[in-house]
Amino acid sequence: MEISVKIGAADKQRTQCLVILAGKTQQNTAFIAVDKATGNLLSKLLKRGDLKQTPGQTLLIPSIDGVQAERILLVATGKETLTAKTAIKVIAGIVTAVKLSAVSNAVVSLDGLEPEDRSPAWAASQLSQSLELSSYRFEQFKSQKDNKDDKDVTLNKVTLQLTVRKELVDIEKAAITGRAIGFGMNQARNLGDLPGNECTPSHLAKEAENLARQNTKLSTKVLGEKEMKKLGMGSFLSVTKGSAEEGKLITMEYKGGKRGEQPIVLLGKGVTFDSGGISLKPGAAMDEMKFDMCGAASVLGAMHTIVTLKLPINVVGMIASAENMPSGHASKPGDIVTSLSGQTIEILNTDAEGRLVLCDALTYAERFKPRAVVDIATLTGACIVALGAHISGLLSNNDDLAEQLLAAGQQAEDPAWRMPMDETYDKMLDSNFADMANIGGRPAGTITAGCFLARYAKSFSWAHLDIAGTAWNSGKKKGSTGRPVPLLVQFLLDQIAHDAANTVTMQKTSARKKTASRKT
Ligand code: BES
Ligand code: ZN
Ligand code: MN
Repeated sequence: MEISVKIGAADKQRTQCLVILAGKTQQNTAFIAVDKATGNLLSKLLKRGDLKQTPGQTLLIPSIDGVQAERILLVATGKETLTAKTAIKVIAGIVTAVKLSAVSNAVVSLDGLEPEDRSPAWAASQLSQSLELSSYRFEQFKSQKDNKDDKDVTLNKVTLQLTVRKELVDIEKAAITGRAIGFGMNQARNLGDLPGNECTPSHLAKEAENLARQNTKLSTKVLGEKEMKKLGMGSFLSVTKGSAEEGKLITMEYKGGKRGEQPIVLLGKGVTFDSGGISLKPGAAMDEMKFDMCGAASVLGAMHTIVTLKLPINVVGMIASAENMPSGHASKPGDIVTSLSGQTIEILNTDAEGRLVLCDALTYAERFKPRAVVDIATLTGACIVALGAHISGLLSNNDDLAEQLLAAGQQAEDPAWRMPMDETYDKMLDSNFADMANIGGRPAGTITAGCFLARYAKSFSWAHLDIAGTAWNSGKKKGSTGRPVPLLVQFLLDQIAHDAANTVTMQKTSARKKTASRKT
């Protein structure tokens, strides 16, 4: 979708659909201009009560004299001052109604989309992201397309209109960023929705290679089972053993930052189907275990956004990909394996496979001398019990890193919540026969899974996002969400901003030192 930003008078916009925000009393510049041009039609409609004042409620005025627009879509911002929370509802209302109005282009006025607790640029970014997300379809396996209405129009051009120049540069940047995040999310959603027979570890490897082919700053390396065996990744291989599909460890190195700058590693769980293995899962909703690679999808999605925005930072995207299947070759409960780190693991439950592939990948990540490692995984059903489908679980061995990720989640409307981790939980992993077991019992399942991973992340700052509840929707709206791409990208943007600020202060101090030395 083409999204641009433009300064101009709302009533002069030539478009199929002009979106104007309307509050209860105090109206914005665009509203006033269009109201005037239409002989006070808008205020008359409001007075008559045709637009209910709940944030995101819409009223389509199909034909109207006095303006250049073919239609006007009035969107309620509510009775109170706009906040980030209500702005999200307003944005959702805009996007749904514009799509329903079946137009190919629209102008959305940003006048009035100014939440008190966020910048106008934030709102522009959220709107652009939502618009881009709305273009997502997963129809490649349907002989008849669902959304094909008679007119067959797709919204492909949206202009964000501002009456005054204020913050134009920031808003333009934000629109580009928001759209790129939406694009990355759509890439992630597409991989998530792809069925397990198509989306295999080899398929994910191919996707990573394709992305690198189009980008000079990105290089991809794929390890197969032979290479992993040579390295000694006994834990990873214990998962993929039971499957006919070859496991892959995928590494995408993006060099957008300074030479020698330590990278941030994003590591995704890429279990392309999780049957549970010999500890077989029950049949109900087992199809949803094709989504067990959504962590990997979010890493690939974030990489798409990173290369689109050409972010000035070094990032290593890693994907630990395997299929978890029962077979005569599969690992059995009680088996003991040796991980790349040398630590031995008693596999008490073959359904706790995510941590088994991730732990070897974490050890492998040491070679990048990372500034921080963030792994993203649909790791535990227990996380859905604890936090539901709205908030991702966060576990970390570093308070600063945890705070940064939480803040990024808040900012990006892709929230996470930190869970505790200490020795008492860690002890639950003790095994009678090996260095540790791969499960810690039913209580605190998300935390013990985090403790397991932490045993492989001792040499760097590490955080783990459990996205079991947030990566996909179940039920009628079954499908991948593209989360936590927004959180990850925001986290990187924050790192970049932070580094830039530090460079400036460093330059200032060194300049000050120079002048000082000149004086003496
Ligand atoms: N992929 C699952 C976790 C999961 C389950 C995510 C349901 C989303 C919905 C993971 O591999 C798993 O099976 N975990 C087990 C761990 C248990 C055996 C300790 C679980 O959560 O039941
Ligand atoms: Zn799994
Ligand atoms: Mn499992």
